[in-house]
Amino acid sequence: MTFNIVTPTIINQLVEIVGEQYVLFDDAAFKKYGHDETEDYLFYPEVVVLPRTPQEISAILKICNQENIPLTPRGAGTGLSGGALPINKGILLSMERFNSILEIDERNLQATVEPGVITQIFQEAVQEKGLFYPPDPASKGSCFIGGNLAENSGGPKAVKYGVTSDYVLNLEVVLPTGEIIWTGANTLKNSTGYNLTQLLVGSEGTLGIITKAVFKLLPYPKYNLLMLVPFYAADEACAAVSEIFKAGVIPSGLEFMERDALLWGSEYINDNSISIPDNIQAHLLIEVDGNDKEVLYKECETIYQVLENFECDEILFAEDAAQKDKLWKIRRVVGEAVKAKSIYKEEDTVVPRAELPILLNGVKSIGEKYGFKSVCYGHAGDGNLHVNIIKDNMSDEAWENKLPEGIREIFELCVQLKGTLSGEHGIGYVQKSYMDIAFSEVALNLQKAIKSNFDPKGILNPGKMFV
Ligand code: LAC
Ligand code: ZN
Repeated sequence: MTFNIVTPTIINQLVEIVGEQYVLFDDAAFKKYGHDETEDYLFYPEVVVLPRTPQEISAILKICNQENIPLTPRGAGTGLSGGALPINKGILLSMERFNSILEIDERNLQATVEPGVITQIFQEAVQEKGLFYPPDPASKGSCFIGGNLAENSGGPKAVKYGVTSDYVLNLEVVLPTGEIIWTGANTLKNSTGYNLTQLLVGSEGTLGIITKAVFKLLPYPKYNLLMLVPFYAADEACAAVSEIFKAGVIPSGLEFMERDALLWGSEYINDNSISIPDNIQAHLLIEVDGNDKEVLYKECETIYQVLENFECDEILFAEDAAQKDKLWKIRRVVGEAVKAKSIYKEEDTVVPRAELPILLNGVKSIGEKYGFKSVCYGHAGDGNLHVNIIKDNMSDEAWENKLPEGIREIFELCVQLKGTLSGEHGIGYVQKSYMDIAFSEVALNLQKAIKSNFDPKGILNPGKMFV
């Protein structure tokens, strides 16, 4: 696809639409908006635009269509698959000024939010009213609701409460051609027409730009209990996961951390309160929540009984809110800790939960074959394992040329196990060359046809998801 450059005339039009202070083209802006959290990629756009209304976005997209200018939408830039990278230059559209929580509807347990609201701020605002918005990606303190919608983000609570798509009822969207639509209705049930709402969720900013989202909410659960369980063998930790569900407990968090994940996470926040004996290979972090403490203690007993069938060391039961916060903090910083430690690549593998031990062992033996070390952690209750491949002393040549074959083998294993390429990070820029593993040509073409129906000129977030 060849695009045109952003001319001074187009810059003037953009200034007219959003105002001079919201059109940036200095080096600092290009640096800031040219990257997300994906490895060390940096692509300079030609101009950064910060609109405030759907109408402004509509006017900008009309120009893009007419002049054949690529436009890349961006939330907070915390993505891990390069969805917000302006790889074709053009306009980088930051949604940061769409930062209002428009309504918290306590009668219906719903909220209407703009996409530039930080996820945690939204969660805290509804929690003040006794309400619960569960999706909680590790980056919840900085990521935007819009990015969560684009990638269909999950997080630790997804295991019990589901992912972003499970809470979305209705979306206001500016289409690539400039029209503004609502995708559905503010109802809990809807069997009216194709589900455009769910099509937009997880579409990685390739089908439209979400400008308002209506979410359903839950009552906030009153209590939770948290434990950290050390295992001598990492695959045993993975095997215990599905047994907990089989015993009748649905935890509100069931996270797996390989030894180095917990170690590096602790180091990263300068905490040395958790001792990890040499013979411990992995941990499970298990949380249960609900409104009845007695029920929660019973669930913990059931979990203990399940764990008796596995070789684990002494369980750490979080004593108070401070200890719970610390354990979760360590878990949440693992990604950042790995990034700070080494050049790495992150794969967001996901398989049916009971196949997790096969996936973990498979990743390790593929690593041996290709000569890479990996640090694995993630949402074990969802069968979602974040595989962090560490460059260590791998040569640049092997990293660039050989490693993609190893990654391909990992994804092939996922698909053999009836899993897929990404559970919650999306495909974006870095995983698009593996889409043929997950989909037949027919299924891929169907998706590309949807894309070209929405975006006939291919100007919205080009070069993402498909090769
Ligand atoms: C996490 C992010 C990387 O689970 O998804 O920490
Ligand atoms: Zn995750």
